[in-house]
Amino acid sequence: METVIGHSILRYDTVDSTNTLAREFAGNGEPEGLVLTAEEQTAGRGRMGRKWIVPRGTSLQLSILLRPNLSLANISRLMPMAALALANTLEQQLGLKPVLKWPNDLLLRDRDETLKKVAGVLIESGVQDEKVDYVILGIGLNVNYTMRDYPDLAAFATTLQDIVGQPLDRARLEQDLLAQLNLYYARIQAGESLRDEYKKRLGMLGQVIRVASEGKILQGVAQDVDEEGALILAQGTDRVRLFAGEVTILKENREAA
Ligand code: BTN
Repeated sequence: METVIGHSILRYDTVDSTNTLAREFAGNGEPEGLVLTAEEQTAGRGRMGRKWIVPRGTSLQLSILLRPNLSLANISRLMPMAALALANTLEQQLGLKPVLKWPNDLLLRDRDETLKKVAGVLIESGVQDEKVDYVILGIGLNVNYTMRDYPDLAAFATTLQDIVGQPLDRARLEQDLLAQLNLYYARIQAGESLRDEYKKRLGMLGQVIRVASEGKILQGVAQDVDEEGALILAQGTDRVRLFAGEVTILKENREAA
């Protein structure tokens, strides 16, 4: 299969944000598939305006420039791609059982038995003349450090080193991740939907959740994710479609996770 993602990889020591840099490349007409990696980001971004800060030289922080052959309405088909590629990489390489949290967080069960975030995805896009000009997939995976050094985060975030008990080969993780992304991207470009695969890995369907979305706090049962990537929240007989938000699982059902 043709290598699209990672045909060219530019490695940086320190940047403000690989996503910001990737947007500059996109604006300059760079073809799709370019991957930018950084050992350190001084202004790394997360979703919902949050910062993404990890110790220098410890983790995977990368952005991928894509120019998908998708209409604006179908751009959300790319949503599950990065989270699924991350999940497969950790499962196949390390035998872990990652759980996805909508929209794009990757969770692992820590030694204290709670699900904690180990990776996140930030998707940004550029539109021109009502068409998708570019999409940047920004991926952050916490690898070789310990959350014991970050007590404020340790209740809800983890690292692979904390889970596996030893440092890991970051280059090997990156290689497998890019290979997985290539496979998923080819499938999406061929018109395939990743919805069912995504739903199988989603740890919160059927569970009672609280969602902070667009300035509101909503509570209900996470019922489904539709083809556009929207979360369907059931509130009694009402159904609410959510396109963005931060989910907290109020009652965890271990069977589902
Ligand atoms: C999230 O979970 O909120 C998304 C985190 C995304 C972090 C990555 S690290 C590489 C890329 N550059 C950034 O500034 N952010 C993304």
